[in-house]
Amino acid sequence: MGERKILEVMQGKTVNPPPIWIMRQAGRYLPEYRATRANAKNFLDFCYTPELAVEATLQPIRRYGFDAAILFSDILVIPDALDRDVEFVQGEGPRMRPLAGDEIEKLDPSGVLDHLAPVFETVRRLRGELPEETTLLGFCGAPWTVATYMIAGHGTPDQAPSRLMMYREPERLDRLVDVLAEASAQYLIAQVDAGADAVKIFDSWSGVLDEVAFERYSVAPVRKMIATIKRERPGTPVIAFPKGAGYQYRGYREKTGADMIALDWTVPLDVAAQMQKEGPVQGNLDPLRVVAGREAIREGVDRILDALSGGPFVFNLGHGITPQADPDDMAFLVDHVRGKA
Ligand code: CP3
Repeated sequence: MGERKILEVMQGKTVNPPPIWIMRQAGRYLPEYRATRANAKNFLDFCYTPELAVEATLQPIRRYGFDAAILFSDILVIPDALDRDVEFVQGEGPRMRPLAGDEIEKLDPSGVLDHLAPVFETVRRLRGELPEETTLLGFCGAPWTVATYMIAGHGTPDQAPSRLMMYREPERLDRLVDVLAEASAQYLIAQVDAGADAVKIFDSWSGVLDEVAFERYSVAPVRKMIATIKRERPGTPVIAFPKGAGYQYRGYREKTGADMIALDWTVPLDVAAQMQKEGPVQGNLDPLRVVAGREAIREGVDRILDALSGGPFVFNLGHGITPQADPDDMAFLVDHVRGKA
């Protein structure tokens, strides 16, 4: 069997050229994704229909031969499974019933895994259809990030509603984050049981937290989730992505127990190289370099490879690819990382 290179890196090996996958690699920049999307009633239906979700997951693997496939789904399936009436409005992003403080006590996570059964079916089918050497990644949102959407009822630029709850009613937010941490850990364990090789926890909004809140709402729940996963399914490799964490990236691996840390593009490469001495890192090209074109891609990739390819490293962007990217420029990026362009 061909070794799954990303799993080797996550065990601390240096692989050259580094393995590569891209956040949001299945998405609107691909014409074949837009065609498949047109067959779904709405975005959640897309996520819950194994035929369609498998197809969307495989599209970027067929086109680019990425070293990892990431399950096609969304972090907001957890609030959906908690009956928050999640909808994705075209052109507006996600919407759901905002969660008032006094509703938090009434949240009932007992039906979450049943509600998400189609996701596990997708994972099972994927492991059967993917090339042997392709790592299959499962994922979920971190409790804090998912909580921000549940409290506001939609995305916001600064997560003010959740930060206000954090100062005004910290015990309530603790309770919400606890419910999410337990449900999300069980959700990831079920993905592993269905065939995911490793899992990634997306804390896309950790960057709005001050240092006290970062410990309480980003680090602590992620540490708890990872402890649960490693206790119940020993050896499961975990990637953590505390986007925007800045200085607080320091010590994050040690505090949470994550095997690999995903870096956003604002992390300086000397800091990234320093972190790599403690363990594997993933990242961190600015997604807009792919939109800007080949010169910007070449320059950014070369700097990253110079700094990080001598240690355990997985190439990725520093956040998701945007719909404006040209699929041919993505091909150039992949070839350049692999030394072929
Ligand atoms: O290819 C992959 O990376 C796997 C699929 C994936 C999606 N969302 C599909 C998606 C993953 C890993 C996510 C994670 C996700 N979803 C995050 C964490 C990572 C990040 O980007 O910070 C967050 C915060 C969300 C919530 C979310 N989902 C938002 C805010 C939006 C709307 C904005 C947007 O990009 O449209 C989504 C929708 C979404 N999730 C799309 C896709 C492909 C676009 C929906 C469409 O096709 O219309």
